[in-house]
Amino acid sequence: MPVITSIADLKRLHQRRSPKMFYDYAESGSYTEQTFRDNTDDFAQIRLRQKVAVDMSGRTTASQMIGQPVAMPVALAPVGMTGMQSPDGEIKAARAAEKFGVPFTLSTMSICSIEDVAAHTTAPFWFQLYVMRDQDFVAGMIERAKKARCSALVLTLDLQILGQRHKDLKNGLSAPPKMTLRNFIDIATKPRWAFGMLATPRRTFRNIVGHAKDVGDISSLMAWTNEQFDPQLDWGKVQQIKDAWGGKLILKGILDEDDARRAADFGADAIIVSNHGGRQLDGALSSIRMLPRIVAAVGDRVEVHMDSGIRSGQDVLKALAMGAKGTYIGRSYIYGLGAMGEAGVTKALEVIHKELDITMALCGERDVANVGRHNLLVPKGFEGEWA
Ligand code: GLV
Repeated sequence: MPVITSIADLKRLHQRRSPKMFYDYAESGSYTEQTFRDNTDDFAQIRLRQKVAVDMSGRTTASQMIGQPVAMPVALAPVGMTGMQSPDGEIKAARAAEKFGVPFTLSTMSICSIEDVAAHTTAPFWFQLYVMRDQDFVAGMIERAKKARCSALVLTLDLQILGQRHKDLKNGLSAPPKMTLRNFIDIATKPRWAFGMLATPRRTFRNIVGHAKDVGDISSLMAWTNEQFDPQLDWGKVQQIKDAWGGKLILKGILDEDDARRAADFGADAIIVSNHGGRQLDGALSSIRMLPRIVAAVGDRVEVHMDSGIRSGQDVLKALAMGAKGTYIGRSYIYGLGAMGEAGVTKALEVIHKELDITMALCGERDVANVGRHNLLVPKGFEGEWA
């Protein structure tokens, strides 16, 4: 059993153990991948202020996100095709999150359905919605999420059209993978994955299959997005979804101060400052660079969360210190899932929790609620003068 000490260890194992097309899917940004790289590079520019001779005992990372108690302010982000990284992946990730005490967000583009995840967990999870042209399908999804007792709807606003990820096209990404010679040879070197997949019925987009009418090529995320996602999504439609849902609503994909103010006026419970992990608008600024400007724009009118680029507990601390009330990890837990299934997701959460806890202590903080800009050393001009 390898000794896992970091998210990077899980990433290496994930690459070895999951088929290339799914590892590549997770590890891609769109086009030149500039924004994808910036998300992590910009975190690395921020440094921490060391404090000594302060009482470090009795520390806590417990907090709240949208009023729900969390063991640490780190939720599992919605990630498409999670059940292709490891058989029954969404169920495994949801269980690990439940045991750890952090929210799990199920993607619309999941392999395990809402009902399946609900049947295998007891804590309510969050559901991420993509808005499709087919209004009956969207209404049906909202009803299914209510029935499954989902405690928040996370509405993604930055993916009505898919940013191109070159590797997915070159790999012929699909769920399940087509049995070409190249895929066959690759999968033959990943026996744990292959036998697990043979043993589960969950091998395609089960939130959609059997629920949407007139579907074309459902095995391809790209084809499905182009065909079905509603390019006319606007604030009016967001309002309709809010009314139909009636519960806690989180708007994901905010990267602009005006949009953030609009979302706050709109009455969202939280916004997620996000560039979709660098997978959509290549050339956009990193989330961590935009975060303080958005926090300044909305003040405390709406709870601000952030994702994109978090690979450690130190990154979580930096995001909190820059003003986020909550954070999300996507790739960081997907590496764990692809490496070791449910145990790997638990490991990813443990790694990040321990890093956050120790880093907090070395910064002289005992309660995550007290982390703030005073804990950081931010290079002058970090936010940039962009006109
Ligand atoms: C879907 O959300 C993706 O980024 O692939």
